[in-house]
Formats: sequence, C-alpha cells, structure tokens
Amino acid sequence: MKTLTVKSAQHHYPIYIGRGLLARAGELLRQNWSGQHQIIVTDDTVAPLYLEQVRRALEPEKLVDEIIIPAGEKHKTLETFEVICSQLLQKQVRRDAILVVLGGGVVGDIAGFAAASYQRGISFAQLPTTLLAQVDSAVGGKTAVNHTLGKNMIGAFYQPNCVITDLDTLNTLPSRHFIAGLAEVVKYGLILDIQFFEWLEENIDALLSQQEASLIHAIERSCAIKAEVVGTDEREQSGHRALLNLGHTFAHAIEANLGYGEWLHGEAVGCGLILAARLSAQLGLLNNDSVNRITALIKRLGLPTKKPPQLDAKTMLASMALDKKNVTRHRRYVLLRDIGDASIYDQIDTSAIEAILN
Ligand code: NAD
Ligand code: GLY
Repeated sequence: MKTLTVKSAQHHYPIYIGRGLLARAGELLRQNWSGQHQIIVTDDTVAPLYLEQVRRALEPEKLVDEIIIPAGEKHKTLETFEVICSQLLQKQVRRDAILVVLGGGVVGDIAGFAAASYQRGISFAQLPTTLLAQVDSAVGGKTAVNHTLGKNMIGAFYQPNCVITDLDTLNTLPSRHFIAGLAEVVKYGLILDIQFFEWLEENIDALLSQQEASLIHAIERSCAIKAEVVGTDEREQSGHRALLNLGHTFAHAIEANLGYGEWLHGEAVGCGLILAARLSAQLGLLNNDSVNRITALIKRLGLPTKKPPQLDAKTMLASMALDKKNVTRHRRYVLLRDIGDASIYDQIDTSAIEAILN
C-alpha cells in the first residue's frame, strides 16, 4: 500500500492506494475516525459487487447501516440528496457517525454533499471504485449535485477523513467507464506535467490493457498532482485549483445540454480538452503541433474528439456563461500556453469561442 497525503492549511488526510484495501476498510477508518456509527452509502450497481465485503471489513462492535441510491449521473440530483438525508434522519444518525462512501464520482459527490450538510457536517470517507473517482473526484473535497440548468451547481467544499483506493475494484469496471477516467489522467499532464503527458503518449497501450505497473503509475501520479494542487488552494481561491477545470467549461455544457448521463463525464472532458486546446491556439497561445498531439492522444484512448453535432454553438455558449469559474460577469477559461503549462484567462472574446464551436 502507498500513502499520499493531502496537506492544506486547514486539513491533512491520507489517500491509501493499493490492492485488497476494501477488506482493510475498518482498520484504515479507525486511524482517521473514532465515532460509533458507520453508514455505507453506495449505488445499486456497486452494492452487489462490494457492499458485503465492506460491511464485513467494518468494525463489528460499532453500528453498521447502509444506504443504496440508484446508479448514474441522472440521479445526481437534489432529490437523491434528500433521500440520503431522510434515511440518515430515519436511522437517527448522530454527529459522531461517518458516511463510508463506496462507488464512483456520482456517489462520492452526492454523499459527500450529504456529509457536508447533514447536521451541518459529519465525517465521511471516500472508497472510490471507478478510475475517474480514484484519480480525481474522491480527492479534494468538492461535493455537489447537478441542476438541470448547470452541472455541479449546488454543493460544498468538504474534505473527507481519508480516501481508501482499492485498485482491485477496477477489475469489474466496464471498459467505457475505465476509458472515461483516463480523460482526467490526461488532464493532469496537460495542465502541469509535460513529462507525465509524454509518458502517457508512450504507455497508452499498456494503460488501455490495464497493465499493472502503468496503471499504478498513472493513478499515483494523478493523485499526487491533485493532492499538491488541493493542498495549495483547497477552496479554489487563488486560481491554482481552477486549473483542474481545463476543458470542463465545455464538458459541463455538453453534459447539461445532452441530458446528464448521455455522454459520460470523462467523455465530455476528453472532448473538452481538445476544445480548450483549440481555443488556446485560436487565441495565439498554443501551437498547432501541440493541438494535434493532444487530439491524437484523446483519439487513441477512444474518447470523443468532436462535440455532439446536435448541440449548436449558441446553446453551448449560453450554458457556459453559468460556469462556476466566472466570478464576475466575464467569461473565464483555463487555457494552455504549452503542454504542461495551463493558466487562467479572463474576458475571453465570445467570438473566439463561437468560432471553435462552429
Ligand atoms: P459514476 O459514479 O456514475 O460511475 C460510473 C458507473 O460505474 C456507475 O454506473 C457505477 O454504478 C458503476 N461502477 C462504479 N464502480 C464500479 C466498479 N468497480 N465495477 C463496476 N461498476 C462500477 O461515474 P464516475 O465516472 O465515477 O464519476 C463521474 C462524476 O464525478 C460526475 O458527476 C463528475 O461531475 C464527478 N466528478 C467530481 C469531481 C470532484 O472533484 N468532486 C471530479 C471529477 C468528476
Ligand atoms: N475536479 C476539479 C477539482 O477537484 O477541482
């Protein structure tokens, strides 16, 4: 097992990465929490696969409960959030409890938001079971639900007590979801680490076939970059954390307008990374060779390289105006000056974005 640490001014917590860790969940939780009531929150796809294993691993002398929500992005709603809160109340959950959140980014985000809100905050631990959740969503404490008008628009920053990443769970993950997770891995190379991007170019086949050493390197490097960024800007105040949103302004508009779940989040991010690279080139920041390299890598992964044809530029632009990075009325974008060198730009001209979308 490898242990990384997220160290921000306010919070320190471990990310455990290894094999067979679900079976050690009780022991690892005990090192980071000392209450009496453990509530496993998972979805109805993950429950038949891993719920029993986690239940057996939790401390038997403490109370263990479970909450199962429907799987999928279309259920990442205020309604599902309310279902979780209602069940917590029905189970008389008190403030010394911990939510043991088992699943992908959807369960992680929504149950994390429930942990942040229930009685103004109770403990929670992330046990991510998708590649996307292991490299991104389980780390850093962004929690949220979607609104029909915008993705992740209602939520909170709320850090987990620990993250327990069991690599064995990827054995059952459908390949479409595995590939979607790789979009976020590519994102880390693009924003901050050209060597990691080059390593991805060279090791893409090994990664796609889930070769052990490559997979572990990709997950550990992604988590290390995310931990460093979150440690320096936990609540996205200095702008450093906003870099993690490269491509996401486009991605969120695709997801919200197509209908949540039509394209997976990682698929929309893959396409969004290309659109962000093309916008960077359009504005004279990035050279065309780099745009071609980025496009080639995303294509080799099997992720979409073009926006859905049914979404026109006007529709996309309207929802992109609601992006959370837009602190003022101006449009704010994460753009690339080079591979491995991202930066925030304000007041991007709408006509440049429109040209890319057209
Ligand atoms: P997901 O949670 O919907 O999981 C994908 C599917 O795989 C689901 O049907 C799930 O039931 C199933 N599944 C999960 N683990 C499995 C396993 N081991 N074996 C078989 N099936 C399994 O989707 P996701 O891609 O994990 O997460 C996407 C969400 O994460 C989006 O809502 C996105 O906004 C959010 N996100 C959040 C952050 C953050 O910082 N909080 C970062 C990136 C993405
Ligand atoms: N996934 C973007 C962030 O955590 O900030």
